[in-house]
Amino acid sequence: MRIPLARRSLKAVALRPQRVLALYAPPVRILERLDELYAIGGGPGANRPHGSAAEDEAHRLAASWLEEAGLEVEVDRHGNLFGHVPGSGPGSGPGPRPVWTGSHLDTVPRGGRFDGALGVVAAIEAVERIGAGSVVAFRGEEVGCIGSRALVAAGGSLPQVFLELHIEQGPVLADADVPLGVVTGIVGYARGEIVIEGRAGHAGTTPMVGRDDALVAAAGEIQRVRDAALAIPGTVATIGKLEVEPGGANVIPSRVWMSLDVRAPDLDRLDALIETIGFEPGYRVGPAQFGGSARQALRDAIASRDLPLVELASGAGHDAGILASAGVDAAMLFVRSLNGGISHSPDELSSDEDVALAVDVLADALAATTR
Ligand code: GLV
Ligand code: MN
Ligand code: MN
Repeated sequence: MRIPLARRSLKAVALRPQRVLALYAPPVRILERLDELYAIGGGPGANRPHGSAAEDEAHRLAASWLEEAGLEVEVDRHGNLFGHVPGSGPGSGPGPRPVWTGSHLDTVPRGGRFDGALGVVAAIEAVERIGAGSVVAFRGEEVGCIGSRALVAAGGSLPQVFLELHIEQGPVLADADVPLGVVTGIVGYARGEIVIEGRAGHAGTTPMVGRDDALVAAAGEIQRVRDAALAIPGTVATIGKLEVEPGGANVIPSRVWMSLDVRAPDLDRLDALIETIGFEPGYRVGPAQFGGSARQALRDAIASRDLPLVELASGAGHDAGILASAGVDAAMLFVRSLNGGISHSPDELSSDEDVALAVDVLADALAATTR
């Protein structure tokens, strides 16, 4: 039987001596909040897709935590949620430089407990702890960083520094036996669709020879997309959604719609993959590199705790990449994924101890960048 994280950690804390209890108390609140977010939308897994009532509910819950932390709550016209330490929000005049930390609250269908949610609850903890900066929860990260891209496109006010804590979603840190990693950059990616038209007909009376079955054609397309990515090293391509029309068990499919997600470490390979597959991306995000004072602050915070420094690239997209491409001094801290690095799945997991350490490092880096 799987014991919910919050209960496990409460039990562990109860067995620890007083001094250690004080050290672990804030992460217990984080784990409880992760549980509360996870419960929204019903199971199995996290179900808070962009635009759903569950995403709204998660934003309302996070807003209540921001208020509890004494932060000034703001929702921008794209639905992104902010919590500012009083005096550090937009329009508050000269003062500490604007530094944001956060992530997103939407999830894929049947997603994990940590993806996005960890970065938001950890941000609240870190900002409350150091008394500086702003928390942000972006909208619709899973469907193409809707909230952060809208903010940038509208010329909204951006921070000088953005720090995002996120679960790694892969096995690199676990394989290296280290709890945390600093992200070097994010792959470029594009999303689009493939539509195949065929001819509907009776499943029983239409001979096999001469059919124009759209789903059979789609099966060939799916393999062609897979082969295109295999032929360009370092790239990936995924068809994750399929809609078959008219959708009757006894009707030959007349139309198939497929989603397409392609990624590559650099623009040349991204363009080559798009061209080989031959589709028009609905949107396209170039690769982003992290550098500057934000990444250095994370490195310093890790070094000051005598942890090994592991730096790694991200194959997943993140709001930090959107802000970095818009000129923000952005950086990301990854916390080790367990369970073989599985993510976008209810089996996504990080340990309580790693989460606690990650929040400490985030708070240190935030304090250093707000100075
Ligand atoms: C976000 O999780 C992505 O699709 O990379
Ligand atoms: Mn995410
Ligand atoms: Mn995700």
